Amino acid sequence: MKILAIESSCDETSVAVVEGRQVLSNIVATQIAEHRIYGGVVPEIASRIHTEAISQVCDEAVKTAGITYTDIDAVAVTFAPGLIGALLVGVNFAKGLSMSLGVPLIPVHHLRSHIAANYIAHPQLKPPFLCLLVSGGNTVIAEVCDYTSFKILGTTRDDAAGECFDKTARCMGLEYPGGVTLDKIATSSDFEKYPLPYPKLSDGRYDLSFSGLKTAVINTVHNAKQKGEEIDIPVMCATIRQRVCDMLIDKTFKAAEDLGYTQITMAGGVSANSELRRRMDEECKKRGYSLYYPPLKYCGDNAAMVGAQAIYEFENGNMADSSLNATATLPIDYR
Ligand code: KG4
Repeated sequence: MKILAIESSCDETSVAVVEGRQVLSNIVATQIAEHRIYGGVVPEIASRIHTEAISQVCDEAVKTAGITYTDIDAVAVTFAPGLIGALLVGVNFAKGLSMSLGVPLIPVHHLRSHIAANYIAHPQLKPPFLCLLVSGGNTVIAEVCDYTSFKILGTTRDDAAGECFDKTARCMGLEYPGGVTLDKIATSSDFEKYPLPYPKLSDGRYDLSFSGLKTAVINTVHNAKQKGEEIDIPVMCATIRQRVCDMLIDKTFKAAEDLGYTQITMAGGVSANSELRRRMDEECKKRGYSLYYPPLKYCGDNAAMVGAQAIYEFENGNMADSSLNATATLPIDYR
């Protein structure tokens, strides 16, 4: 079954053609350059660029897959969560396409598709497993009970891990997207030079919190500026990265131990973080657990992962008609 999948939830316009876990094409048009001057994604600009790009990206995906539109058996689209205007571009395009081709329309939850990026890279991977889902807008520890059945164990109480990276990087004047830049220039070093808090929550056993760390960094940077002092940016970046990794790793393994999971996955943009990968690898090896994460090209937003999840949504009877709407917030375990 050939599925044409569409992703437009944030600042990447992407269309892919997939067949099961096989990716026939995956075209991604990123808007990073357009948003860089603002230091973050401007929703109105994102929607406009999606509108301008989507037809061309779609044609290219079909051509690269070596098929024609008549070979497509279903159209899948990210419908939630994300920037509402950006999502609507993909949703409306998908509705028109499925109607004109006379094929089913499959709505896909963005976070489910981030998890499905692992299915592309690891053909042997099957639920149940535990997932640490870390992106720009969401941080969730979830049980993936089955391909379309999820149980949220913990979420961030405030900022997402990616947001913490992006905002702290921005206050140090680092280039957008801050998480990527911060990871590149961080040098391992004296982690106590800057006394940043180790974010810990004693209640809500698997919940996370990053806003205290973010505020501490912003205050440290502003105080240094007021005193005319220089911040040692590579050391500060390494310290932020270490604190975020500590929190994510601590809660993930607590959940794994308590619930008896030995199969762990990571997903989302922040799963590209080099230190998080290194430490998760190390910790899993020590414990004899299996660890899966997507290759870098499937960590960020892309339509191949939407297609990879869509087949399971289809098999579960999750289909939409022309009344499909976009939704800005929706938990991964929605029914
Ligand atoms: O999953 P994603 O592409 O978009 C959302 O669905 O939110 O995640 C984007 C986030 C941004 O916050 C970006 O800074 C972060 O992922 N990110 C990283 C790295 N690469 C991307 N954060 C830390 N280290 C990285 N290497």
